Amino acid sequence: MEDMTDDWFESMVRMRRLRRTGSLRRMVRENVLHTDDLIQPLFVIAGRGVKKEVPSMPGVHQVSVDKVGREAKAIEALGIPAVLLFGIPQDGDKDAVGSVSWDPKGVIQRAVASIKRNTEDLCVITDLCFCEYTDHGHCGPLDEDGIVDNDETLLNLGIQAASHAAAGADMIAPSGMMDGMVDAVRESLDLHGYEDVPIMSYAAKFASAFYGPFRDAADSAPAFGDRHTYQMDPANSEEALREVELDVDEGADIVMVKPAGPCLDVVRQVKDEFGLPTAAYQVSGEYSMIKAAAENGWLNHDAVMMESLLAIKRAGADMIITYFARDAAKIIAKGKG
Ligand code: PBG
Repeated sequence: MEDMTDDWFESMVRMRRLRRTGSLRRMVRENVLHTDDLIQPLFVIAGRGVKKEVPSMPGVHQVSVDKVGREAKAIEALGIPAVLLFGIPQDGDKDAVGSVSWDPKGVIQRAVASIKRNTEDLCVITDLCFCEYTDHGHCGPLDEDGIVDNDETLLNLGIQAASHAAAGADMIAPSGMMDGMVDAVRESLDLHGYEDVPIMSYAAKFASAFYGPFRDAADSAPAFGDRHTYQMDPANSEEALREVELDVDEGADIVMVKPAGPCLDVVRQVKDEFGLPTAAYQVSGEYSMIKAAAENGWLNHDAVMMESLLAIKRAGADMIITYFARDAAKIIAKGKG
């Protein structure tokens, strides 16, 4: 009986052996967050001299075109490889189709040009949608029943995409969840001579309540109804794979899952199934929850931020779009990631 106990002790697997010191833990660490994994979203607003904090997103600002070059320069200096731009036009410029979105002198077009002038190799990705530009706040023109007209939207997406590329965008990110949108954008880009501009598709985008604060930031809340007729039901993951497959067939170069934290299972499935460059969007609500809890002293801001990003990486994301990009890059640079 005594012998058996000794044997048991000798052969026991002890997982804690490799957790004993910091260096051991670093040696067996499976996933590491790099600054290269991060993409910083920026909200660019009409007007001059504006830098206005979004009340529901502490630390996130709407900035006017004249200030965005500087912001982008600072982001590049941190080693972050890319920004994702959202444009917010003047209220009076919005109409039923969102035509101000393809104005060559529009907010996004001027912002892209300014960022390209002020940075060396920062990848400028533009979000391609209509909800910030329509007077009703939906992601495309409406039919007589007040539902977004898919095919009409496709035509307009092609026009807007070409105007972003003409302004110098390095990558286009259609986010409206219209059927056939990647195909329409690819065709328009190729037709206008932008065959080398890649598409990052919001392939599996769920109708999530976590986008709430963003709609303040981008002034894009729907005036009536919701987005459940075009964005995905959060209950579905097989459908997400089908959505991604369609976008891949249509020529998406990078596929995105959104939101990230609530859909880590989908991120993993998409990465395993397609093996393509996969992005995940840690959305406004995920950001604001952490900010609010940290401001209350209920959570450790930096620790929770880094853990949330690492979890997205561990789920299989190659790229993370996050409002924390700047903060995380600073922590990584200190070697404390
Ligand atoms: C535009 C768009 C949205 C987000 C990114 N692109 C809002 C929406 O679909 O309502 C959300 C991003 C976030 O919450 O951080 N269609």
